[in-house]
Amino acid sequence: MIPFSKEDEHVAKLAISLSLACGFNSKMAGLIGDAAALHDCGKVKVPEYIINKPGRLSLDEMEIMKTHTIWGAYILSELREELRMIAVNIVAFHHEKWDGSGYWGYRGGVIPYYCQIVSICDMYVALTANRPYKEPWPPSEAMEYIKSNAGKTFCPKLVRTFLGCYQLQFAQVFNLSQRDPLTEKSQSFIMESVEVKQLKIQDERMSIP
Ligand SMILES: [Fe+2]
Repeated sequence: MIPFSKEDEHVAKLAISLSLACGFNSKMAGLIGDAAALHDCGKVKVPEYIINKPGRLSLDEMEIMKTHTIWGAYILSELREELRMIAVNIVAFHHEKWDGSGYWGYRGGVIPYYCQIVSICDMYVALTANRPYKEPWPPSEAMEYIKSNAGKTFCPKLVRTFLGCYQLQFAQVFNLSQRDPLTEKSQSFIMESVEVKQLKIQDERMSIP
């Protein structure tokens, strides 16, 4: 499985728009976008039958699914320095929730803000995407769902900013940055790092930590 799917790029573009709207400068927003595209790269170590399971995951399957955050952080630990810290945090913490009910129980402001940005964009893309177990939701219904989770899954202030971006149709915020989120150069650099690291994992026949 290659980490740059259309959905990954969609998450990256939304994350750049939202980062700019949250006050990050364009360089940092670009880094967040590049890292956001990789947020699920650890799924290469999760069996396909779990990734594509149409129904609810069993408790054991869920425990295996949760390891994609750890594998992803490991895979990306050799990225260039300025991107590495952001990417590793995003990969490790993108399933944390504002109220502490996420994968590992981190809550509120303890979760780096740019990780929360990626979480909310990931949720929006997941809801509006076609999946083996569900039809795509209309964007307006996805927004209602996200709004209903303010203070639970997401920071209330971030939900308000996300709503503002949605009302501006994201692209307008994104275009303000005059920046391609995944330039060919950074994309191939990241792909190379990920592929090299994955090969290393296979060579070392590492077990899931
Ligand atoms: Fe994930």
